[in-house]
Amino acid sequence: MVLEFRGQGYAVIADVLTPDRVAQLRAEAGELISQFTDLGHRSDDYWSFQRPDRPDPVLYRIHNLERQGANTLADLHRGGELHGLAESILGLSVRSTACALIVKMPQVAARVPWHRDRTAAPPHTVCNLSVFLDDSTMDSGCLEFVPQSHLLPDDVDVDQVRAYGPVRAVPANAGDVLVHDVRVVHSSRPNGTSVIRRSIVIEFAPHDFVLPGVAQ
Ligand code: NI
Repeated sequence: MVLEFRGQGYAVIADVLTPDRVAQLRAEAGELISQFTDLGHRSDDYWSFQRPDRPDPVLYRIHNLERQGANTLADLHRGGELHGLAESILGLSVRSTACALIVKMPQVAARVPWHRDRTAAPPHTVCNLSVFLDDSTMDSGCLEFVPQSHLLPDDVDVDQVRAYGPVRAVPANAGDVLVHDVRVVHSSRPNGTSVIRRSIVIEFAPHDFVLPGVAQ
């Protein structure tokens, strides 16, 4: 798995979380989401977009997840099994530098444009772990990658890289973790199904590595 991460820029680790733990996280995620969809809560941490064919904004990300008052979700950011996993992948002592809930609302979630999360870090230095709370399929918005694109220079044109390809869709099941290098060119598909697709994304960086915009 570490070799695959270093070589391709991403890897899936199956069955990291037990079904019980996934259920607990789902319950908390559901409460946070319903604050937006049912109770009209709005804040700078709740990111949404407007569709021309819908009256209501479509939620796609709850940023600063560790500060939203949901304890089990916040624990993933603070420490525990994901930190251990990130340390075994990067081979260094790490800290979590960002945490968010990604929400692919049924039928209305759009494709996330092709991008790299960061280039201000060498390959194999900073990674994102995506913890899936629901199955992530071709139809419900799974991630897509250009393999080995984390090794490309900082200034490559992302759209050209994607056009040259190859593009690999990477489905995953609830409880799985998908790790990717923050430099890899990636996207996620729209959700055309009637089922929500949620994941928690946590960024990990070495303890002593200075990331722009992140307090030490
Ligand atoms: Ni990304």
